[in-house]
Order: sequence, then structure tokens, then C-alpha cells
Amino acid sequence: MDTTTTLIDNGILKQHLIDPEICIRCNTCEATCPVGAITHDDNNYVVRADVCNGCMACISPCPTGSIDNWRTLPVARAYSVEEQLGWEALPAEIPPEQWGADGSAPGNTSTTIPAAPAPVAAEPGTQPFRSAQYGATVPPWSAAHPYTNLFAPARPTTATVVGNFNCTEAGFDSETHHVVLDFGSMPFPVLEGQSIGIVPPGTDALGKAHHARQYSVASPRNGERPGYNNLALTVKRVTQDYDGHPVRGIASNYVCDLKVGDTVQVIGPFGSSFLMPNHPRSHIVMICTGTGSAPMRAMTEWRRRLRSSGKFEGGKLMLFFGARTQQELPYFGPLQSLPKDFIDINLAFSRTPGQPKRYVQDLMRERAADLLALLRDGSSHFYVCGLKGMEEGVVMALRDIAQDAGLNWDTLGATLKREGRLHLETY
Ligand code: A2P
Repeated sequence: MDTTTTLIDNGILKQHLIDPEICIRCNTCEATCPVGAITHDDNNYVVRADVCNGCMACISPCPTGSIDNWRTLPVARAYSVEEQLGWEALPAEIPPEQWGADGSAPGNTSTTIPAAPAPVAAEPGTQPFRSAQYGATVPPWSAAHPYTNLFAPARPTTATVVGNFNCTEAGFDSETHHVVLDFGSMPFPVLEGQSIGIVPPGTDALGKAHHARQYSVASPRNGERPGYNNLALTVKRVTQDYDGHPVRGIASNYVCDLKVGDTVQVIGPFGSSFLMPNHPRSHIVMICTGTGSAPMRAMTEWRRRLRSSGKFEGGKLMLFFGARTQQELPYFGPLQSLPKDFIDINLAFSRTPGQPKRYVQDLMRERAADLLALLRDGSSHFYVCGLKGMEEGVVMALRDIAQDAGLNWDTLGATLKREGRLHLETY
């Protein structure tokens, strides 16, 4: 298919753009786009006009709606990636009378959309495995109704820190904090699986206000403390970049260093598909690494509260949780006290001295028989959250478990996606 033509009609382009003022830079669009049209730098997420084919796959997964912006203009006026990366705000629509006789508007230097690279036909059976295509963009049918975008970046609300402690063992390379925020009398309803944005104070090296950073909520819908208008976050102190070079994460260090009584600027809530099922006997399989455990803690705790109040109506909980060591696994202690008949816990440690490296997908393969039974059950829901790198290995493990038992993964994967039963949130 010629991906360059679907948004162009008679030399006029309907250009797909992302609103930098609303975008929370969560990477969902880039991960979702099936044609690789979205890219980013430290400042903005942007759409390559020469690649975007208007398939709309990115629209509903976007937690903020910033992805759903369009400008009509001559092809010769298409905003380049470089221009978009420099934006602080979307440009206004250019009225047709200003397009000019040659189809170009004043001040524009671009003449055409560079041609998209011709798709290379893959040999049958050699297409790379693309795990993101199986991620659902709809919630389970029995999910509760989420509230979203109550507070936009231009109008954040204020929360007060009521708790902050290291939920990993002190003295290790990686340190993760459990931070509790209270919203006082300001309504801030969240569901398990949703996220919020924290706006770090101050400005960057260029004098611009910092962007909000997105964190998954780690507490259930009725509050970290039941009945209180508060929520918890699981935040890892960033001290290295992806290549292992020392770096001080602006927002994570700000959040990890917050003191009780401090106030923070909060936006959100975000997310309307990574939500838990609520129907009787619905099963939840949770697969996570590090701070990807936040939504899993929220779902587990909600079910634990239902169970202790006698309202839990069955359904299995199975957890696969990966960390470098036991000491660096968030919430290791509290996890140990959960009853074995309530949750089936599988921990994978990758850097325990003297032990082989183990990842969550290794444990999943070891538990293939149990996962197969769950894959065969239409009430099972699978949630994956954590490092980007694990997504492919985890979805491949599910695929192999299904295929080894003679199930058709193409059919099953498509069903899981369509029914909101396989959710991927990796970063
Ligand atoms: P590793 O020891 O290889 O880094 P982190 O502490 O950096 O947040 O990572 C959490 C866990 O996820 C670590 O055990 C890490 O192992 C593991 N991990 C890293 N890459 C992958 C991957 N591709 N698949 C599964 N787990 C991974």
C-alpha cells in the first residue's frame, strides 16, 4: 500500500499532529503505530507526515487525546519532523486564502513530503514478531467506568504528600519509593491500572517548564487508605540512562525526595483500557518488572479488600514479577504475607549472585500448563507492565504456550486484543 496518499487529496494534506501542550510523553502512540510514523526527542512526540497513513490505530490508546489533532494544508506546506520537535504549542490552522497561488503559505520552506521508504516485502514466515499488535485498546467488558483528563497540564491540581518510603531494601543500586498523595477535598477518582502525571517544579536548561511525568497508580479505587481521597505511586529513582551512563532523573528524584507535607502538582487521571475485570470468576494474570508492579499492586489489593469483606467472587490471581534481586523487588515483604490460595506468586531474579539469570518469561514457560488453562478460559485477562524489553519475550511466551498445545495464536491473540484481555504497558 502506498502510505503517502491516504491523507492527501488533490495536493491537500490532512496532516496528523500531536499537541505538545497536552501530550504526557508516555510513548503509547509510538509503540502502537503499526507503520512507525511516530518518533520523539527529549522535547516532543511527533508524526512523520510521509509515513502516517491515517489508520487511526494510535487514536484511542492515547491517554490524553493529544494524538487526535489534524491540520489541513497544501502538501508543500507539510510540517516537517524538525519543525514539530521544536513546538511548544500547535500552530493555528492556516486559512485557505493564505495558502498562496503555488500552494505554499508565507514563511514555509518545505516543498514536498519526502517519500516514505518503499516497504520491503518480507519472505513468507520471516516477518519480525511485533508484540505491540496484540495489546488491547479496549477495557475488559466488566471494567468500571474510568474518569480521565480531569486535570490538564494547563490546569493541574495540588496534592499533599502523606507518605514516602523506600519499598526496596536500602543500600542497593536501584531504589524504589512508595509515595502516597492526598487530594483533600478535590475529587480525584482513579481505578486500578490508571496513571497520573506529576509536574516537577522549575525549568529545564532552556528555561522551559518541565513536562509532566506519568506514573501508574499503585493503590485501589477506594484509596491507599480505604475511604480516604488518596493514592499511591511506585517510583524508581533514576540514576542511569538506558545505556547505563550516570544521569539524575528530574522527576523521579524530585518525587523520591518529597517530604510528608510537601505539595505537588498533579494532572490526569489517564488511561481507559488497562483496567481490571470486575465480573465473578474473572482471572487476572499479571506480568511485570520493577515499577511495572504498581498497577498489579493496585489490582491485587482491590481483590484482597473484596475478599476480606466477603465480597470476592473467586477468579484466579497469578503474578510473574521480575527484579534484579530480591532486595530490589518493590514490596517483597508485603507480597510474602498474601495467602497462597489467594494469589499464585512467581518471582524472577536476574542478578542474584551465584544464581542463573531469570526473567519473567522464563518462569511463564515453566508454568506453561497453568497458563495454558488460563489462555483457554474466556474469563482470563493478561496484564504486562514494565520494561519495554520484556514485552516481546512475554508475548512470545504466551504465543509459544498456546501453539505448543495446538492452539492457533493468530486467532487467540486477535481475540485477546478484541475482548480487552491482553494489555501491554511498557516503557
Ligand atoms: P537485568 O538484570 O537483565 O537488567 P530494572 O531493575 O532495571 O527495572 O529491571 C527489572 C528486571 O527486569 C531486572 O531483573 C532486569 O534484568 C529485567 N529485564 C531486563 N530486560 C528484560 C527483558 N528483555 N525481559 C525480561 N526482563 C528483563
